Formats: sequence, structure tokens, C-alpha cells
Amino acid sequence: MKISKLVEKIKPSGIREFFDLVIGMKDVISLGVGEPDFVTPWNICESAIFSLEKGYTSYTSNKGLYELRLAISRYLNNKFSLSYSPDRNILVTTGVSEAVDLALRAILNRGDKILVSDPSYVSYDPVSELAGGKVILVKTNESDNFKLTPELIKRHISKGVKAIVLNYPANPTGVSYSRKELLALSKIFIDNDLIVISDEIYDELTYDFPHTPLATLPGMKQRTIYLNGFSKAFAMTGWRVGYACGPEEIISAMTKIHQYTMLCSPIMGQLGAIEALRGSAKSVLEMKREYKRRREFIVSKLNEIGLCCAMPEGTFYVFPSIKKTGMNSADFAKKLLYKEKVAVVPGTAFGSQGEGHIRIAYASSMDNLKEATQRIEHFLKNNA
Ligand SMILES: Cc1ncc(COP(=O)(O)O)c(C=O)c1O
Repeated sequence: MKISKLVEKIKPSGIREFFDLVIGMKDVISLGVGEPDFVTPWNICESAIFSLEKGYTSYTSNKGLYELRLAISRYLNNKFSLSYSPDRNILVTTGVSEAVDLALRAILNRGDKILVSDPSYVSYDPVSELAGGKVILVKTNESDNFKLTPELIKRHISKGVKAIVLNYPANPTGVSYSRKELLALSKIFIDNDLIVISDEIYDELTYDFPHTPLATLPGMKQRTIYLNGFSKAFAMTGWRVGYACGPEEIISAMTKIHQYTMLCSPIMGQLGAIEALRGSAKSVLEMKREYKRRREFIVSKLNEIGLCCAMPEGTFYVFPSIKKTGMNSADFAKKLLYKEKVAVVPGTAFGSQGEGHIRIAYASSMDNLKEATQRIEHFLKNNA
């Protein structure tokens, strides 16, 4: 056999698999891909164009441009009083995707167990397996809005559990945790000596209460690998810039892998990211305001047409139940696509607990959302 056993075992991403169906279809309203419909704010584009004109086309330091690490350090300090040294505790990565991979590979030995919530973002489970870890899925419940609870985590702790992946606000459910909830979770993390990979990429898109970074809680900074990036809040998915902050030992282990595999994040992206942190607060707020408006519309519309949908606290996703239609998630999504030309993602792309749900990304214009919900209503009337 030519292919590694580890890779053979991994399933292709359920999102990509589904979107292969969409390619080539005309007039589809896509509420599938998790990406802002806004283009990157102009000041960021302009600064990158200007830097190209000045000849900035080279590699950077493996850790990322010092100016960017300094900007990240100041940003986190100003915003959350979270202090990380640009030299020792910050690594700039090629998106948060790379940071997740590096964090897992830096800490896992073959066979180490890692807790991953089900449902969750598609990469955590396969990338943990590729790093040699043994994934223990923590099945969250609809009745708790798919949140991890201290009781649920405790039930999954056993010998050899080294780490947990936490993501909030969460993809695909949009739920987030208050400071009080995080304090209760952090007690379990500390009592069980867990390392937490905390993917907070949607932190700016938290609507109902302030976002609390896990690393700001007592006893958590030394056991948290804090991940964040520019793709979502700054509408910079194509620029490929993210970052990891954490204890020096872990960040230098991640840097070791990164320097052999990626070298550095693209310099144009890094320069754009510096400008993003310097001068984009207003644009981020405007986009956030618009997502919030759409969230309110889509949640009330889905409930009105009979798809039960909780109000998510963050991200640009909703995760309504389609159970009352009697269809499973994959059938629902396929039929909706073929009959009404609306693309959504089956909940099962995020784990088996996603069965009975679909993920709708509302990072799409209000007109699209209005038209899509009308088509869904028509679909429900004729197929439920
Ligand atoms: C929870 C989560 N983490 C990480 C990523 C990847 O982000 P990036 O574009 O920074 O690689 C995504 C993208 O959808 C995501 O939803």
C-alpha cells in the first residue's frame, strides 16, 4: 500500500465533500462556507499593495515579523490585559489552521489522549489523529446548546488524557461561554492537569457579552495555547495569517516544526495583519454590527418557518434542528440544494452529534438571507 495508514484512516472533510456537489450548479445561494462575505477593509489592502511596491516580497523570521508579534502582544495586552512576550510567547502562523496542527504535534506523543467536542470544527479530530493522538469525542447535547460542561468533561477523563481542544464562540453552533462558565471549566482543566488548545478565532464576533480569553483566568495561562487570527473578524481568509501564544517551551516546540514545514506566513499577509491591528477597529465593528443584525433576522425567520433554532452568542453560524422534517441532515441538505438551490452544511460534517441539524452561515447579504429563507420555507411546505 502506497499511502500511510494514518492518512488512509482519515475521512475527507464533510464540508468539502458537500461543496463538490455545489460546483457547477447555477443560481445557488451558498450559506455553506464559513467565510465573511465582506472584502478585506481597504486600509489593509492598500498597505499590502504599498508594501509590494516597496519590494517586501521576501521570507520573514520563522516566528513572524517582529513588528507583527509586537502588535499582537500590545493588542492582547490593551484589550484583555493578557501579556505575552513577542520574543518568547508568540508565533505567527499560516492561519489558525496551521496553528492547530502545530499545537497538536508539539504536545502529543503517540497514543496520548485528547478530548475533542462533538460536534466541532472539522479539523480538530483528524489533525489530532495525524499527530499520533487518540481522540476521545465528548458528545455534547442539544439540551445544553452543545456546550461542554464540567460534568461532561469529568466523565471523559481517564488515564492518558493530556489535552483538550476548546473553541468559543464555536463553529458550527455559534455558542460561547461566559466568564463564569469558563471558570467552572478551568477548574476541571487544572484539577486534571490538562493542556488546553483554545481556538478563539471568532472572539471579536461575540454579541451578547464580553469575550473572556481562557488564558486570562487564574491558573490557565501556563496551560493554555491561545490561538487567534485574522480570517474572520478582519475578513482576511485568503491572507493566511494566524497566531499562537503560550508558554515559551510550547511555542518554541511549535516553531521548530513550523520552521521545517512552513518557514513563515507570507510577508504580504503579515504586513496586512499589522495594518489590521493598527487601523481597522471601526471596520471590524461595522461588520460585527451587520452580522448581529443578520443573526437576529435568521434566527427569528427560521423559528417562524418551523425550524427550531437557538440564538447563538457568537460567530456567523446558526445550527437549527431539522428533526421534525423526519429527514437526516445529509438528505435534508442534498434535497434542499437540488430542489431549492440553497447550500447549507449537514450537521454530521462536524460529528455524529450534529445529526438532525444543519449549519447555516449567515455571512451573506440580507437579500440572500431573505431569499434563502423563503426557499427553505417552500422546501419545508413541500417536503416535510
Ligand atoms: C473554529 C475555526 N478554527 C480555525 C479555522 C481556520 O481559520 P484560518 O483561516 O485562520 O486557518 C476556522 C475556519 O473556518 C474555524 O472555524
